[in-house]
Amino acid sequence: MDRLRLAIVGCGNIAQLNAPGYVQHPRCDVTVLCDPVRERAELRARQLGLTPRIRTDYAQVLDDPTVDAVELLTPTYLHAEQIVAALAAGKHVSCQKPIAISVAEADRVVDAAANARTTFRVTENFLYYPPIVKAKELLDAGAIGEPSLVRIHTTRVAEVVGQTMELDPEALVWRRDPARNPGGVLYDDGVHKYATAEYWIGEFGEISATVGRTADALNETPSVATWRFKGRDCLGIIDYTFAPEMTIRSRYYHADEFFEIHGSRGILWVTRCTGEMLDLPPVMLIRGTETISYQVPMDWRLGFDGAAKDFVDGVLDGRQPAQDAETAKRILQVPLAIYESSRTRRPVAPESIKS
Ligand SMILES: NC(=O)c1ccc[n+]([C@@H]2O[C@H](COP(=O)([O-])OP(=O)(O)OC[C@H]3O[C@@H](n4cnc5c(N)ncnc54)[C@H](O)[C@@H]3O)[C@@H](O)[C@H]2O)c1
Repeated sequence: MDRLRLAIVGCGNIAQLNAPGYVQHPRCDVTVLCDPVRERAELRARQLGLTPRIRTDYAQVLDDPTVDAVELLTPTYLHAEQIVAALAAGKHVSCQKPIAISVAEADRVVDAAANARTTFRVTENFLYYPPIVKAKELLDAGAIGEPSLVRIHTTRVAEVVGQTMELDPEALVWRRDPARNPGGVLYDDGVHKYATAEYWIGEFGEISATVGRTADALNETPSVATWRFKGRDCLGIIDYTFAPEMTIRSRYYHADEFFEIHGSRGILWVTRCTGEMLDLPPVMLIRGTETISYQVPMDWRLGFDGAAKDFVDGVLDGRQPAQDAETAKRILQVPLAIYESSRTRRPVAPESIKS
């Protein structure tokens, strides 16, 4: 196979960021857009400048022998069953994070992926965002010496300026249903940040957490979770706050984050991810008396483009793209351990979460 014929399944909010990288890829043809709401698929086709076949039934996509691969951009509670069905139909599968809503579901995906002859991966755009990749290069080159602490901060806001993405509020309906969604921002958004921390340093050990509650159950602020990375003398801390009276610059969502990695010889700062809250270079290396800035590309959409490229190239070149099913399951266990720790007031090992 020298080209990939792809169906995009789910044409809601994230399709705006997730689809362009496939359309731009020189070895990928987006031939099908699928959504039960036909108008959404038609809108995305117009926005992307495509004339694809429009499908309103996922089964038709799986029955179509001219579709080699699917990119699932559907509500998370559908991921496991849709992944398993697509692998059984012989399709290559990429699926937006989180892999599933429970570890039991993730286990079914891990089994299906292990037994499939086709490729499976979870789309984790943070792993391709140039400032995050640059920080990894600097870490691996020893720029800050031995890492001792990773801090990941997210500020959530009510208002942004400069937004280019249209957010359909219907995306909140399934998210607000506890039967279809096991958590708020620490789950839905947090998985990006746990994946980033694991990519930089390694796997998470026991986690202690306090999860905040606001009137909006999805807005889990203020929250803090801390852990030790397995086999490393390095701690992690993730914290979320809400600043309802502060407006930030953001082209995309109502939030921004920054990362600090502290080491024996220096400190790395990564800023300007989802938004542009901090007017700083996207990567800074602080070495005591000197600060070095790295002006790598910093539009957050680039992470999605990189993820699309890795999937297409991975399938066509016969190698596993990031993030594989086992990794995605391990990352899902982190927010579930955070919730369990906050509930029980004790440290929780992510691998102890089995359901
Ligand atoms: N990487 C990121 O930064 C990021 C950001 C937002 C969302 N996401 C993930 O993307 C997924 C979708 O989130 P969203 O915010 O775009 O949600 P959304 O509700 O805006 O979009 C989901 C779309 O799927 C469609 N759909 C529902 N059932 C379907 C079916 N059986 N077959 C095909 N389409 C179906 C809906 O009609 C809707 O258009 C979630 O898993 C979410 O966690 C990732």
